[in-house]
Amino acid sequence: VNNLIPSLKAKKEYTGLGSEYELDFHIENAALKFMGTNNFSPSGLLLTGVNNDPKKPLTRLSDAREALRLLSEQDIEQLSQPLYRIKVPYRWRVSTPVELQETSPSPIIKGTIDLPEVTAAFYPDMVAPINNLAATSLEKFRNAIRKVSFGIDVNPGRLVYINNRFTFHSRDAFKPTLDKSGNPIRWLQRIFIAPDLWNHRTLEPVKDRVFKLALNH
Ligand SMILES: [Fe+2]
Repeated sequence: VNNLIPSLKAKKEYTGLGSEYELDFHIENAALKFMGTNNFSPSGLLLTGVNNDPKKPLTRLSDAREALRLLSEQDIEQLSQPLYRIKVPYRWRVSTPVELQETSPSPIIKGTIDLPEVTAAFYPDMVAPINNLAATSLEKFRNAIRKVSFGIDVNPGRLVYINNRFTFHSRDAFKPTLDKSGNPIRWLQRIFIAPDLWNHRTLEPVKDRVFKLALNH
């Protein structure tokens, strides 16, 4: 379980602890779908609210299957080719070996557009298209993702399941409301769902179910 509480130190970060910048639509741990031959990305996420910020920053969800229906065949074709390098989050790059900081050229869409698996993150410096045509199609996909999205206030008592294989999520920018002792009020909890940890066997275990992105062999 990760506790997502805004950190006043991290307010300008693009992470679950940030606040002042919108955390734009992304698939969780997108780059980890294409690390070598393994997929380390969670298949789903659970979010629940513990404490609600009165400003109600929303978590937004977007079903990529709906977004893909808005795109041209040419854009689908581009997004299905290995034309995109997907990067690990900025905060990780300092401690990650260079060869694991970004994927080799990978597709954004795998499978058919009715039954796709998608991989992307739209906050800054997360996906590097390898040419202009690929970049244009990615931008159109981003706009379509925004268009079909909807907001949810993850308040206490609500449990949201996000299928991380084709559902993007984002978090609004907000200025955290503080309690009497000066601590941010907002508090969400997040769980990563993985059907099994077989792929993780080559990673360095930090704790029982916590792994470091450094290959063991
Ligand atoms: Fe996320």
